[in-house]
Amino acid sequence: MPEKNIIRFEPTGIVAKASPGSNLYTVSARHMLPLSFDCGGRGTCGKCRVKVGPQSHLTPLTEKEKEHLSAEQIRQGLRLACQSSVCGDITMHHPDAEENTADCGNDVGGKEIKGRLERDSLHPHLSEENSLAEENFLSGENSLGLALDIGTTTLAAYLCESGSGEIIASASQANSQRMYGADVISRIAFADARADGMKILRESLLHSVNMLIRDMLESCAENHKIQPEDISEVCVVGNTTMQHIFAGIHPHCLGVSPYQPAVRVFPEMKAADFGLHLHPDCPVYIFPVVSGFVGGDTVGAALADAPYKRDDISLIMDIGTNGELVLSTPEGLWTASCATGPALEGAHISCGMRAVPGAVHQAELNPEGQIHCHVLDDISPRGICGSGMIDSLAVMRERGMILPDGRFQNEDPDVICDSQGIGRKTILISAEECASGEEIAISLKDVRQMQLAKAALSAGIRFLMKKAGVEQIDQTILTGAFGAHFDWQNAAVIGMIPPEAIEGEVHVKQNLAGRGALMALMNPGQREEALEISRNMRFVEMAAEPDFTTAFAKATAFPDSVYS
Ligand code: FES
Repeated sequence: MPEKNIIRFEPTGIVAKASPGSNLYTVSARHMLPLSFDCGGRGTCGKCRVKVGPQSHLTPLTEKEKEHLSAEQIRQGLRLACQSSVCGDITMHHPDAEENTADCGNDVGGKEIKGRLERDSLHPHLSEENSLAEENFLSGENSLGLALDIGTTTLAAYLCESGSGEIIASASQANSQRMYGADVISRIAFADARADGMKILRESLLHSVNMLIRDMLESCAENHKIQPEDISEVCVVGNTTMQHIFAGIHPHCLGVSPYQPAVRVFPEMKAADFGLHLHPDCPVYIFPVVSGFVGGDTVGAALADAPYKRDDISLIMDIGTNGELVLSTPEGLWTASCATGPALEGAHISCGMRAVPGAVHQAELNPEGQIHCHVLDDISPRGICGSGMIDSLAVMRERGMILPDGRFQNEDPDVICDSQGIGRKTILISAEECASGEEIAISLKDVRQMQLAKAALSAGIRFLMKKAGVEQIDQTILTGAFGAHFDWQNAAVIGMIPPEAIEGEVHVKQNLAGRGALMALMNPGQREEALEISRNMRFVEMAAEPDFTTAFAKATAFPDSVYS
């Protein structure tokens, strides 16, 4: 037996070596392959499919693989990377290369440079003034600051003129840590499971951040020559787990009861402490956190929206891989975290994917009562993202295809039943209409995942209101990677947002957390305000509330109507 086995990756043609017994998940992760590892390699999501051969050079099929792969897929040579290990030279072909590149392929260079477009959406009222800021910047009169929003799924960066906050450029890309799990719980489990887990997670994150900075600076090169050393300060917001990993603090304490952060206020650090490709002495300010699951991003959103400066009762909903709530009343700020899980970002859904080109992102009933899907960028459909799931469930409820308890209506002609006549799925788009040759369907299990996600949010909102003693909300603000991009009325139809939260005004505000980071860059006084917010917010631990489990279970049902 040779000392090392040769692994050839297709279609890239990259060749690597691995010791016999190496797991394909580990090998893929080491080479940053664009695979989805939603469950962090536990064999439960079935998303890490690869076509690999010869089969004789791999360990035998596991029970988990038999569970997630059809007989036809096994015949074609598909395996789950996290369940297979090498014992000879192999060729590994990513079967849905295009789909997964779109799903998490931004991890390895599929960055989205949004530049001026995103700048204008952040500061629409400033766009006409930006040319002046750019002139000032070009004349070297201003220093530059970098705001980073490090999300579980997506990383965003904004380069701005520190004094005025004018945005020179911005960029975003997927967080390459996704290959170690779709949510923070999986990442913490990964850090705990291996001696080098934390090191791998941090290096992956910092690598992504450095790529993001490089790409963003390159995007400016046409108009301005900016060197990394020109950036004089960095402000970072993220959830508590991401901020811990970023700062090099093991997140173990966030995965075990009582789920407390190791630090709430982060020490002042320098770019060299992170290996960021900036001037080594460039100061890096990390936002304070409130609790294990209410992080600096929530503090940043509260700072940017400043509901405590208004007289009304406001609710900020920051929905991403997790859901964070901030309720502002005349008595102060209340906050809670809702374990919505990653279903809303397409993970743990059988045909789920991120909201990138090819994703079904909207659905409606046509006059004939059929579900009509809209695909992002109008290309061949490849999967369904969270907003598409919400719309689909809403119209399926409207048509009566789903019962209040989440089961399919077995009599519906578009529901596919098993041999016992029990509804198992409905096909949204047939295999013939998809370039991948695989249909896009919603299964009973997918409906269940969405029921859990929506129940966590709606029960969380109701509990927070109860704790704060309020019965109505004057103003609801939707933000976050997912929160600003879904149809909130359909979310109300499926009971994800309770009626009392949408009876007042509803506003969608993009990137509130990133705006908070920008404010702290522009004005160091805002950091004091952020600290005050983090200290004064009253955190409600849902799991500790005696009635929460019952309320959560009740909230999994679909309402008969939005106002029931
Ligand atoms: Fe392999 Fe989830 S099944 S990562």
